[in-house]
Amino acid sequence: MLPVKQGVTQTGEREEMSKLVSTLRRHLQWKARAGIRVLPKGRPGDVGLAEVGSKEALSSNWMGGLEGNLFSDYATAYEAKSLEELRAAIGDCRRCKLWPGRTHLVFGVGNPQAQVMFVGEGPGRDEDLQGEPFVGRAGQLLTDIITKGMGFRREDVYIANVIKCRPPENRNPEPDEVESCEPFLKKQIDLIRPKVIVALGKFAVQTLLESKQPITRLRGIWHDYHGIKLMPTFHPAYLLRNPGDKKLVWEDIKKVLQELKVASA
Ligand code: URA
Repeated sequence: MLPVKQGVTQTGEREEMSKLVSTLRRHLQWKARAGIRVLPKGRPGDVGLAEVGSKEALSSNWMGGLEGNLFSDYATAYEAKSLEELRAAIGDCRRCKLWPGRTHLVFGVGNPQAQVMFVGEGPGRDEDLQGEPFVGRAGQLLTDIITKGMGFRREDVYIANVIKCRPPENRNPEPDEVESCEPFLKKQIDLIRPKVIVALGKFAVQTLLESKQPITRLRGIWHDYHGIKLMPTFHPAYLLRNPGDKKLVWEDIKKVLQELKVASA
């Protein structure tokens, strides 16, 4: 409750409160238009109003500001207890400029308890049309790596991308698009908690590791992603153009298989 003060101060506080209420109303209307129908429950310690992706948010937690940010467009996503809830929280997403060009939002596919999670860049044409990651030519090669190389079924692993909507003409995702979408990938990883993440290609690797180093320097060695082992390797689309480097990817995948053996021993 506001302390009762006199005259000008009290009027000022009323005006401030009324501004706050109309800001909140506009925000809730915006949420409803974006398909977000459920509001998160507040929790003790919720204080943050930091922008998602802002320096304060990033320094305080690894979910990029999802936590405790009751008024953010990501609050319902943070509260999600399952991949289904997360997908519902994303809704008919219009958080970045890619939405008008998409056919489908490509969320991710596979085992919610997967030990291995593959992370690519973003949907291409086939993925946009089918609503599933890695289903085009590069996807076929990834499926071969998973099935013929690793001995898993595609549905045993989890496959997702850094961004969920196809950029026009398959251009590289832009920083504001990554900033808008990456919290969802982080939440997917947090829900799945795989033993190993395989990051496919320069874009996914550099984004996840927050590094500018070339993939040739990063691949083939273990990195830490918030307590999860991360193996960077070449993107299957790159391998289609440079089949000679398939042997390097196989070296990386063998390390992943060895790690899984150790982890489940
Ligand atoms: N390339 C990617 O990075 N992801 C896909 O889903 C398809 C192609």
